[in-house]
Amino acid sequence: MQNLPNTMLAVRARGPDDLFVDSETPIPKVRPGYILIKVFSVALNPSDYKRLGVFNESVSHTMGCDAAGRVVVCGGDIGQSYKPGDRVAGLCYGMKPQDPSCGAFGEYALLKGSLTMRVPDHVSDAEAATIPVGVNFAGQALYHTLRLPLPLPRLGLGLSTKPPSVLIYGGATATGMTALQFARLSGCHVISTCSPRNFQLVKALGAHSVFDYHDADACGPAIRAATNNNLLYALDCVAAGESLRICAEALTSRSGVATYTASLPVGDRFPRKDVRYGWTSGYTSFGEPTHLAASDAKLRTGVGAAADSDSDFAAWFWKLAVDLLQHDRLRLGPLVHLRQGGLAGVQEGLAELKGGNVSAGKLVYTF
Ligand SMILES: NC(=O)c1ccc[n+]([C@@H]2O[C@H](COP(=O)([O-])OP(=O)(O)OC[C@H]3O[C@@H](n4cnc5c(N)ncnc54)[C@H](OP(=O)(O)O)[C@@H]3O)[C@@H](O)[C@H]2O)c1
Repeated sequence: MQNLPNTMLAVRARGPDDLFVDSETPIPKVRPGYILIKVFSVALNPSDYKRLGVFNESVSHTMGCDAAGRVVVCGGDIGQSYKPGDRVAGLCYGMKPQDPSCGAFGEYALLKGSLTMRVPDHVSDAEAATIPVGVNFAGQALYHTLRLPLPLPRLGLGLSTKPPSVLIYGGATATGMTALQFARLSGCHVISTCSPRNFQLVKALGAHSVFDYHDADACGPAIRAATNNNLLYALDCVAAGESLRICAEALTSRSGVATYTASLPVGDRFPRKDVRYGWTSGYTSFGEPTHLAASDAKLRTGVGAAADSDSDFAAWFWKLAVDLLQHDRLRLGPLVHLRQGGLAGVQEGLAELKGGNVSAGKLVYTF
């Protein structure tokens, strides 16, 4: 094992909106089932600044969820699957209360083995950082919650029944750009929404048809008409503004057969009670109690129970996703909005993201 320094540079948070770059951050301690990596790229997510806004711990915690890098040390049995030097990407539980070392935004990061994947050679360092949050959420939402047909690369589709139509609301969100590719690989008929400036991109990534959500009165009925009142599934990657209403009006008017899931807690705000509705949290993939940080205080549910079935599914799905990446079935390039400044630049990036100035991709920092 190489000699590790005692401390590293990391982006850390203490109180609400109290963010700083700390050069004295302890290197995370390797635990069984975890991998320590030397980070070469990170990507930002809205959850980073949302959690920062409500975070309140006396000890500073490392931020960030998306990390990619090279394996340095493997904890326990995980050494049978990975070895030092492997290029990997993995999901981090940034700003996890009472666990200061879990975040992605450091020179080193601790990855949970089951939420880590080997990065194929054709995937660049910058692209690798866009994988974890998007792939994890797309898997949980499309296949664990909505139960859509899986994208099985080796078996091919070979389905006896016609794959369903699915609405990916917010096709130009980072999560939407990943989810619609998976849905297309599943053989689904993919409908999406975004601003007209992103129509071409969203279609190129896999949507069969795209609708402008800005005319909220027309959008839902237009999708319902285009799907002959047969749309059974909606994944809402925005869960804000008029998205719930538009999805409710796009889904079939038949009672009791449609399912809606969102990327944020929706409480009882979904306008149709004859639709199965709720939200999908990527954090439950860790199989540990989750600490939610919804921006709406009424929806902040505090600590959530650990869900073993979620973590089991995630571990299985990550292996499937590696296969798809190895077969070059996912396009990550369009997701990358590369920024300069390394870890020190992350603070500026979070302000840009919070300002709503990032469309159709993720801010990525390489170092
Ligand atoms: N549950 C989870 O595990 C999970 C995981 C990741 C993200 N999330 C959450 O999911 C949401 C999306 O995250 P992201 O990183 O994918 O988003 P993002 O990339 O930051 O999304 C930006 C895009 O969202 C669209 N948008 C913004 N406001 C909208 C509105 N009111 N109506 C319709 N579209 C709107 C815009 O698309 P156009 O430019 O086309 O207008 C905008 O470019 C965030 O709230 C995030 O916290 C949850």
